[in-house]
Amino acid sequence: MRKLLSASMMCADLTNIEKDVRKLEAAGIEYLHIDIMDGSFVPNITLGFDFVNAIKAITDIPLDVHMMVDNPARFIDRMKLDKGDVICIHYEADNDAAGTLARIREHGCQAGLAINPTTPLTCLEGFIDDIDMALIMTVTPGFAGQKMFDGAQQKVTEARKLLSTADRYIPIEVDGNMSPENGKKLSAAGADIFVLGTSGLFIKNKDMTVSAEEFRAAIAE
Ligand code: DX5
Ligand code: ZN
Repeated sequence: MRKLLSASMMCADLTNIEKDVRKLEAAGIEYLHIDIMDGSFVPNITLGFDFVNAIKAITDIPLDVHMMVDNPARFIDRMKLDKGDVICIHYEADNDAAGTLARIREHGCQAGLAINPTTPLTCLEGFIDDIDMALIMTVTPGFAGQKMFDGAQQKVTEARKLLSTADRYIPIEVDGNMSPENGKKLSAAGADIFVLGTSGLFIKNKDMTVSAEEFRAAIAE
């Protein structure tokens, strides 16, 4: 599968969001990653459903919605999305993850399941048929600017092995501290989609297209 970049919109210039969306379009970014946080599942509150719908209305770049939200099923219908978009829920936040993943597919979107750094891969085993993407968190969710945890490369390697038992290719997305160096390691381990925030794309006084090209060059090696 081609390696894809997903821009973490919580790291964008929220005072000029349309300007950044146009820069991301020009940079050829393949997904816009929208972090929804409820202040309960994670100790932070960021972007909401109105933001998702507003961004959806101004760009053709597919959205990659990352729900760091307790009981996410309550909110799926609040987002006007389509088959090119992904809604990703957390295994740790939903005691009926299979039901919510089915709801996401009924809603017409692709379904993703995320696990935190401390959540074992075995938790993904029962969901192979329910998901279109697996999100391996490489930092504890909630805040940008953190450091990737030490076991991330090994975990992605094992996740790729686990997901290869599926009857179709299930991409792995990685999220948190995706610098070119970390991206290179995780790409070699089997990651396909890279969430780029302050470590790899939204860098002060640096052109986004240049940053995206540098990241692509690093993961292509
Ligand atoms: C973490 C966020 C990510 C990411 C931001 O909860 O979901 O968007 O960490 O990118 P970095 O880590 O590079 O600032
Ligand atoms: Zn995220």
